[in-house]
Amino acid sequence: MHNSMKLDIKIDITRCKAAVVGAENGITPGDLKAITPQVEEAHAVLARERKEAKYGFYDLYKDAVAFDDVSKTAAQFKSMGYENLVVLGIGGSALGTTALVTALKPPYYNMLSRRARRGAPRVFVMDNIDPITFGQMMRLCPPAKTLYNVISKSGGTAETISQLMIVTDAIEKKLGRDAMKDHVVVTTNPRIGAPRSLLHPVAELYGLPELVVPANVGGRFSVFSPVGMFPAAMLDIDLEQLREGCAAMDARCSDPDLTKNPAYLRAAVQYIADVKKGKSMSVMMPYADALRDVADWYRQLWAESLGKRYSLDGEEVYNGQTPIKALGATDQHSQVQLYREGPNNKIFNIIEVAAFAKTLRIPGALAEIPEFEYLRGKSMNRLMAAELRGTLDAFKASQRPVSRIILPRVNAHTIAQLLYLLEVETAMAGRLYNVQTFDQPGVEEGKRIARELMQGKRS
Ligand code: PA5
Repeated sequence: MHNSMKLDIKIDITRCKAAVVGAENGITPGDLKAITPQVEEAHAVLARERKEAKYGFYDLYKDAVAFDDVSKTAAQFKSMGYENLVVLGIGGSALGTTALVTALKPPYYNMLSRRARRGAPRVFVMDNIDPITFGQMMRLCPPAKTLYNVISKSGGTAETISQLMIVTDAIEKKLGRDAMKDHVVVTTNPRIGAPRSLLHPVAELYGLPELVVPANVGGRFSVFSPVGMFPAAMLDIDLEQLREGCAAMDARCSDPDLTKNPAYLRAAVQYIADVKKGKSMSVMMPYADALRDVADWYRQLWAESLGKRYSLDGEEVYNGQTPIKALGATDQHSQVQLYREGPNNKIFNIIEVAAFAKTLRIPGALAEIPEFEYLRGKSMNRLMAAELRGTLDAFKASQRPVSRIILPRVNAHTIAQLLYLLEVETAMAGRLYNVQTFDQPGVEEGKRIARELMQGKRS
């Protein structure tokens, strides 16, 4: 067991405060005081509904049976030595895995040799139906060398099912029908206590192994269920560290006290920034490539959970703060001009890494050019820190509120803390906005129309 205290991620809302960015843009002590009863009331509801198992995301990390199942299934398939793991899924069935892979596997992972990958497969998360991309993946990942994990909670998502049909056809043609059970793992709704998934009859037809997404866990909250955990196990990501990271953050996020609970404080700040200070957009901007897809995952979580036409009381509210993903330092040269001098309608969630796993020194090259002296002999790490500080101070000068999240370093423990923090924050934000956080009726209409078009019932 490591010392998890040393690995605790920190949050810092100082740069969101009115004292830093002015009362028009920043949070005052009075704002926080005023929202405290609302947060306490929301906490009581969330804690009660958690106890009633109304939503299961909070406790996924505790589910020893599910983790055991995932580990055993992964061990079985790892022993078969596949070159590729292909995830078929979309939205919440894909974004968590992508966030974990980008954060916890080396950059350009798929280009590493099998030895450098320590025998783990390459990974492709197919979250679209672009015929060019999917066709190319099928060429790069022939069935004989590939394990496909089809993930669909509902079992009815056209994008994912069309991918599965292409994969099934290829396996049957190349390897024969019997080979399906060695090449496809299904992750879907349980057979009892949830709407029927059409992946159940598929699994029965071919005798495919099945992993379960608990009925009370929605797609975008499912990363710590087999949805994210089976691919993670296949890639040798440390599941125990992930679970410990969740547990550490769960402990911190169980405190009803807004000032002690990092998720509640962040939710309150983003909520106040939106409804009282006109910050209708929430930018997430990590300063580490490893975290770029966490911003993508968060974008879905925040958008689908809070973007709602109706309040819980049935009033038409058209709610939602628009999440935007960005990356430091790259987007300093793309977005920051707008962020500083455009409309002051955004709150910035900057994610920082206190210590990168490696230091890269900038050598003494180009010595003939004295103007480059300031870089010579320094490190890229130091330059990244300087760029980050530059952005923080520039935002302050433009009175743009910044909410910081600081990871001591990037590993399974801190990433789990981060994802868990953002999930609890979203649950609290949903209560503050008084919307139904855990459904997505606005997505269903588009799905229905597309199905009717495919059925020729609509033109
Ligand atoms: O968060 C959600 O619920 C959605 O984004 C779903 O994950 C997405 O629509 C895919 O659904 P399914 O897993 O049922 O195929």
